[in-house]
Amino acid sequence: MTGESRAQGFPALWGEIAEIGRTAGGGYLRYALTEPDLTLRDWFRIQAHRRDMPVTDDGNGNLFAWWGDQWGRGAVLTGSHFDSVPHGGGYDGPLGIVSGFLAVDRLRAAGHAPRSPLAVVAFAEEEGGRFGLPCLGSRLLAGAIEPAVAAALTDRDGVTFGEALGGLPAGPLPGLKDRVKALVELHIEQGRQLEVPVGVASAIWPHGRWRFDFTGHGDHAGTTRMADRRDPMLTFAYTVLAANEEARLTGAHATMARVEAEPNATNAIPSLVRGWLDARAADPATMDALVEVVVKRATERAGRDGTEVVVTPESLSAEVTFDTALAGRIAELLGGAPILPTGAGHDAGVLSAHVPTAMLFVRNPTGISHSPAEHAEDADCEAGVEALATVLGELT
Ligand code: GLV
Ligand code: MN
Ligand code: MN
Ligand code: MN
Repeated sequence: MTGESRAQGFPALWGEIAEIGRTAGGGYLRYALTEPDLTLRDWFRIQAHRRDMPVTDDGNGNLFAWWGDQWGRGAVLTGSHFDSVPHGGGYDGPLGIVSGFLAVDRLRAAGHAPRSPLAVVAFAEEEGGRFGLPCLGSRLLAGAIEPAVAAALTDRDGVTFGEALGGLPAGPLPGLKDRVKALVELHIEQGRQLEVPVGVASAIWPHGRWRFDFTGHGDHAGTTRMADRRDPMLTFAYTVLAANEEARLTGAHATMARVEAEPNATNAIPSLVRGWLDARAADPATMDALVEVVVKRATERAGRDGTEVVVTPESLSAEVTFDTALAGRIAELLGGAPILPTGAGHDAGVLSAHVPTAMLFVRNPTGISHSPAEHAEDADCEAGVEALATVLGELT
């Protein structure tokens, strides 16, 4: 390790990536395997090299920088993702990777001699912002999706994940369970729930994405009598309101934030409107019931509008309860850190079905995320690095 990396604090290392993929509005466009993400992946390799940490690629787009034997038994993983939602914040994801490298620096500066291999990880396509399916890299690693299915996922320009990756994904790592002792993902908190610098995750709400295809009859906006229209935008608009109403009634979260219309012209009644529902709840029964009633109301409304609706589930992320013993041990190690659930999805959630997994949250003073306004104070990020180093020191 160089003296340079040992001396580096959070703001200096963070500053190295702060401009990558940043747009004029202050948000980030860091779609998986596009140029900004590739630049970040190069940066990852440089950081690993600076620290004498060999990098392996699992063939699924996930990168691992190793301190100790690569995939040796009892390995401990820490990291997160580089990719962002469109015009998202800079912390959601990269904070966990930058903190991983800085935690390694701290452990080395303290003379820590790990008994287990430790890797800093960058997972691919966590947000599903490019290929539509969240946590694609971690799902592949865990065997939660077939490589051929992942390879065929297509972005808005018609490029497949397989093409972007340069081949068929490798799929699950044999013996993942036996090789990995623990995964710890550090992440910015996203729900105005954390009032101290660092917390520990207890659970992730079950969540999923459903695509609604509303079809009607394209026609002239000026000449088609109101009574003659079969306008799918109307059915879509009703569905947005119905989803919001049902979520408020049940305590679930429902969002319809992505929409495409054809032909998408001011003066043409659309022939097709495609909208996506993001539904989440504290338990799967509430989420399933919400989706069921939204589909029912959309279908009934389509009958009245003379339109049709077809609903396709696109992804499902099961309810996650993180390893309770590990979370408790970490909270205690951190002097009684609060333990809290989240409605946001994470690679740690996917891997928790296979290996003992924990998450650290860093305070977000406004709670805002998936927005350019997302922010964490440097001092809290430093506290996050310190906490992560403590936890990794204990685990390795
Ligand atoms: C990803 O961050 C998600 O929870 O949608
Ligand atoms: Mn996110
Ligand atoms: Mn994230
Ligand atoms: Mn996420």
